[in-house]
Order: sequence, then C-alpha cells, then structure tokens
Amino acid sequence: MKGLDVPEAQVKARQAVTTYDYTSMGFYTFDCLGWPFTEIPPGGGCYPIDELTLAVSGAAGTAAIAAAKMGLKTLAVGGIGDDLMGDWVVQRLRHFGVDTSTMQREKGWKTSSSIVTTRADGSRPALHMAGATGSFFVTEAELPKIIAAKVFHAGGVGLMHAMDKGRTAEVLGAAKAAGAITTVDVFAGSPNDMPAVASVLPYTDYFVPSIDEARALTGLFDMGEAARYFIDLGVKACVFTLGGDGAYYRDCSGFSFRMPAFDIQVKCTCGCGDAFNAGFAVGLVKGFDIETTVRLAQATGALNATGLGSQAGVESFEHTLNFAKTARTRAS
Ligand SMILES: Nc1ncnc2c1ncn2[C@@H]1O[C@H](COP(=O)(O)OP(=O)(O)OP(=O)(O)O)[C@@H](O)[C@H]1O
Ligand SMILES: [Mg+2]
Repeated sequence: MKGLDVPEAQVKARQAVTTYDYTSMGFYTFDCLGWPFTEIPPGGGCYPIDELTLAVSGAAGTAAIAAAKMGLKTLAVGGIGDDLMGDWVVQRLRHFGVDTSTMQREKGWKTSSSIVTTRADGSRPALHMAGATGSFFVTEAELPKIIAAKVFHAGGVGLMHAMDKGRTAEVLGAAKAAGAITTVDVFAGSPNDMPAVASVLPYTDYFVPSIDEARALTGLFDMGEAARYFIDLGVKACVFTLGGDGAYYRDCSGFSFRMPAFDIQVKCTCGCGDAFNAGFAVGLVKGFDIETTVRLAQATGALNATGLGSQAGVESFEHTLNFAKTARTRAS
C-alpha cells in the first residue's frame, strides 16, 4: 500500500494545467519571538535575552514559506490587517517568492499577531491577538485562481470564523473537484471546534492535526480510534503529529504506521506542525510514497525546530531531503 489511491496519472496530468504547486489558505500570523525566556520580570523590571526575531507564522503562513523555500510555486490565501504587521507579513511572504495576490487586507482589522517567549527547552508560551484571520472570506470570483493548485491546504480551521461556517468546506470541495489533493490542519482545543472541523472532513484527503488536537476534538486517547473517528466522517487519511515522538499515519484502507522523530537540538518548536504540512505537500507534489512523504514532513518539522521562529531552520528541498536521508531518529 503506497498511501492514498490518488492515481499517478491524475497527478501528472494536473502538472500541465495547474498554476500553483501549493495553495496555503488560512491562518497567517505575525510573530515576535525572544529567546531564552525564563519568567516575566517582577514589577517594571527588564531581563536580558540573547535573541529576538520576527517571523510569519500560522498553520497556513509557516507552511507557505517553508514550501516556497523548498521550491513549490505557492499561493497565499488569508486575511491580514491594515497595519504595520500586515505590511511586514506581505513583504516577508514576497521575499520568499510566495504569491500574495490573494491575501486580503481587512480594513479596520489588526493582523493576527503573537508575542512568543521561547524557553531554553524550546517550549513557547505566547500572547496572541486573534485579528483578521477571523474575517477573510473567499469569494466565487477568487475561487478558480486559488484552487488551480496540485495541493490545496487549509490551515487553521477553527480560527477562520467567517470561512468556518461552511465556506472552507465549499472551497475544499471545489479544489477536490478540480483534481487537487487536499490537506487540512486545525487550531482546535475542544469538542466545541468539532462542527467547523467536521464540515471539511468529507473534502479532506489528508487530515494533519497534532495528536493533542485530535484527542481534544474526539475525546479519544487511542490514536487508531481517533483516526477511525475522523475517517468515518469522510477523511481519506489521518496524519497525527506527535511532537518529539514523531508522527502516526492511518488511512481509510486500514494501513497505518508510526515513525519516530528526528533527534535534534531543539531551539524553538514554534511552527513545527505547520512546517510539517509544507514538507508533506512537497512529498505529495513530488509523488513520493507515503512513508517518504511523512519522513520529509518530519524532517521539515525538525529543521524548523533548530532555529528561532517558524521555518527558521528550513533551507531548501535538497537540504531537507538530505537531512531526511541522513539524520538520526530518536529511536535509532
Ligand atoms: N522536539 C522535537 N524533536 C524532533 N522533532 C520534532 C520536535 N517537535 C516537533 N517535531 C517535529 O515536528 C512535527 C510537528 O510537531 P508538533 O506535533 O509539535 O506539531 P504542532 O503541535 O501541530 O505544532 P504547531 O505549533 O506548528 O501547530 C513532529 O511530527 C516532528 O516530526
Ligand atoms: Mg499544529
């Protein structure tokens, strides 16, 4: 079994007609990150830190940049505010060659933004302002352009409030009907997020939440049971990311495997799951088998964690592939 039964001929035929390799729709956020964080200074005090940086992050934003770094022709679809952070997000996406023509500037909204305080162990408590991700909306006029992609990714279901009420499902349905492979990641913390998530599952080829999110959505601890729950709702395959414990795959044929994570020196885990999505898309676009695709995705997530800020450690396709082939895993 080589993963989902997406006919190779179909993938090849689309290479001639699609405008983009990858459309990344959803959560785009501006991050300001400091390292290493210990605690908030008492009163109005000030502690020194060694590093400070800015990054475009989010389940769609990190994925778009990491995919572009790895050579995918990438289209960004999301909402940003009419503010300085929005200016910077667009500039940064363009810097990496991402097409920003379908990014929406939302008048009167702020750009979704975070202050991320990364600890020495790579964990990263954050202060987040929700912003324009809740307000962007894909119109019928924009639809043909955004679905002209080999892989269509919706990242941040649960945060796209205007889109989550059925429009993301319609867009994914249109992308699938046009022949795209669809991937979905969420921002979900409880069963209350399930209606928005359930609406998109019938149009989802690969559902890629973290295991914490899968458990929070389903109330099921066992990975196989949680995957079957989503598959019963229409997903073709689940890929759960397990942080430093790797990844778990299960598809509708019953084929499953678990893969350990790469053994890396962690700097910041911000955006690991989002970078994983980009590596996964690269594997799909290249037509790799599912194990190689998950390995490449894990390599992208691991490299992401070696630098401060989303996608910092991701360089290129060749670099990621070489890492995937040569780096030690935690179990080896
Ligand atoms: N500490 C780590 N060591 C090695 N690899 C890691 C580590 N943390 C994450 N990864 C890699 O990144 C992938 C995604 O990480 P994780 O499961 O933490 O995603 P997430 O919780 O969705 O993150 P995000 O904040 O981006 O949504 C993992 O499957 C793994 O391959
Ligand atoms: Mg995630």
